[in-house]
Amino acid sequence: MYHHVLLVLHLLAASIWVGGHLFLSLRFLPEAIKSKEVTAIQNFKNKFEPIGMPALVVLLLTGILMAYDYDVTFTKWFSFSNAIERVVSLKLILLLITVGLAVNAQLFLFPKLTSKDLPKAAFQIILVTVIGVAMLVLGSLVRIGGL
Ligand code: HEM
Repeated sequence: MYHHVLLVLHLLAASIWVGGHLFLSLRFLPEAIKSKEVTAIQNFKNKFEPIGMPALVVLLLTGILMAYDYDVTFTKWFSFSNAIERVVSLKLILLLITVGLAVNAQLFLFPKLTSKDLPKAAFQIILVTVIGVAMLVLGSLVRIGGL
């Protein structure tokens, strides 16, 4: 039951994080590129951030707690020694990359975003979206034994 509650919270947070980024990539980004207008992307970011960032924290916390349930404890991370641990370690690496991209967006990209920066913004948005989907696919492998 405990594991199931964690899993439900994990899936809710994954829906928010991945769903939000897919929506941004598939709706707002193409429109921004077409109109060469960045306001819609900036508005989306400002609205999404207050729920997106907590969702990412929930993903990390519930993910780590579920990993402990599979006996993938802190000391085993990044050893790539068994199928479930490999999934957890890959997810942690992808999460670190995501956090790095989020910090870069927050500090350097968005404060002075203009239409000239659209290719850079598009690359970063698509990268975070693809990483999110990859983490979802990796997570789905756990119930079939891992990687
Ligand atoms: C963007 C970040 C993440 C997304 C989108 C995501 C998504 C998912 C999804 C869709 C599942 C499948 C659950 C199922 O089969 O019912 C899952 C499972 C899992 N995730 Fe994540 N996850 C993320 C981050 C993390 C992190 C950072 C960790 C570990 C530190 C983690 C650890 C796990 C574990 C251990 C499971 C297996 C749960 C189980 O089936 O019992 N996840 N994840």
